[in-house]
Amino acid sequence: MYNFEYKNPVKIIFGKETISKVAAEVPKNAKILLTYGGGSIMKNGVYEQVMNALKEVELSEFGGIEANPHYETCMKAVKIVKNEKVDFLLSVGGGSVLDATKFIAAAALYENGDPWDILVKRGKVEDAIPIGAVLTLPATGSEMNGNSVITRVSTLEKMAFSSPKVMPQFSILDPQCVFTLPDKQVANGIVDAFVHVMEQYLTFDVNSPLQDRFAESILTTLIEEGPKVLADRKDYDAAANFMWAATMALNGLIGAGVAQDWATHSIGHELTAFHGIDHARTLAIVLPGVMNIKRESKKEKILQYGKRIWGITEGTDNEKIDAAIAKTVEFFESTGLPTTLPAYNVPEESVTKIVARFEKRFYKLGEKADIDHREIEQILRDRL
Ligand code: NZQ
Ligand code: ZN
Repeated sequence: MYNFEYKNPVKIIFGKETISKVAAEVPKNAKILLTYGGGSIMKNGVYEQVMNALKEVELSEFGGIEANPHYETCMKAVKIVKNEKVDFLLSVGGGSVLDATKFIAAAALYENGDPWDILVKRGKVEDAIPIGAVLTLPATGSEMNGNSVITRVSTLEKMAFSSPKVMPQFSILDPQCVFTLPDKQVANGIVDAFVHVMEQYLTFDVNSPLQDRFAESILTTLIEEGPKVLADRKDYDAAANFMWAATMALNGLIGAGVAQDWATHSIGHELTAFHGIDHARTLAIVLPGVMNIKRESKKEKILQYGKRIWGITEGTDNEKIDAAIAKTVEFFESTGLPTTLPAYNVPEESVTKIVARFEKRFYKLGEKADIDHREIEQILRDRL
């Protein structure tokens, strides 16, 4: 196992009827800006629960944050934060609202130039406005990590940053929020969390059996509980298990001390940037391609995954790898997510555009930093 440092200071408040606990978590006498998305929180009662709990608190609101949140929208909020001297941000919504809130928190206190640099030049986040979260959608793990992914509409770029400064002070996770999610968002959440695990697991062996088994337990939980949530949105226990699995998939624990890939995410972000495809759907397309093209360098782990997760024990190594990829595709498609580019009407020209973008960026992807633009092309062509 590699050396690592691990600290996760996010306080998780998990369970039924926990949203009212927000009152005890927000700082006293703070000027709070509540951030939210397109209005789902108004329809499902989450907004009302938050407002009832915070009756006595000075609060203003910033709504309209998009799925795949826009830099342009975030910068409008930054202006408000600065003008109104906001000193606490409360994110109420899914990963997009929380990611936007993290960027707003960092950009409002960024003094080294253009805040866009935080995303494109890895501008160091020295400080950020403190954040709290009420999470309404299990998927991203954003509620317990320091990551944020932002899209600049004017240039069609989707970029990420990460800083411990934007980890929420607390995140409230009431699994009842799952009850109002449309099928599509549940499926997206299952697949996003699944691929977060794969990015930290399907690499190469560093003799970390505990991390491997943590990862495998999350995959198995998603495979078992995900379909129950899809079948019955009011199954509280299934919703709770799904929600906690999604948080554990990307809170740093399973990634500590092991190699990490993230090629699927990097390539997927380009599909969202150019075609607006939901984040998880891009992962459902790209991951089988990465597994296929990297079958040699990921061999041991794909075989372990196939055996432990899907019970694949028969055949040659190549046949077992084919079967593991087929099982992965079958699982994604069983949730309702297609896994090929034509299924999303992505034309062949887009592959060329995406490959050209990676060629310009020079860096290589993957746990061995060995996926260059040529291999990215193979991965995408594998999905045509
Ligand atoms: O905008 P509103 O009206 O709130 O509706 C949202 C949105 O339309 C709706 N929704 C959320 N909770 C709901 C609900 N509808 C009914 N009932 C509820 N309880 O669902 C739609 C999607 O929401 P969104 O926040 O976009 O989804 P998700 O949580 O999947 O977030 C996706 C974003 O997170 C980024 C992705 O790139 C994407 O931009 N990611 C963030 C990561 C992180 N911070 O660590 C890691 C991930 O890999 C991912 O890249
Ligand atoms: Zn993701």
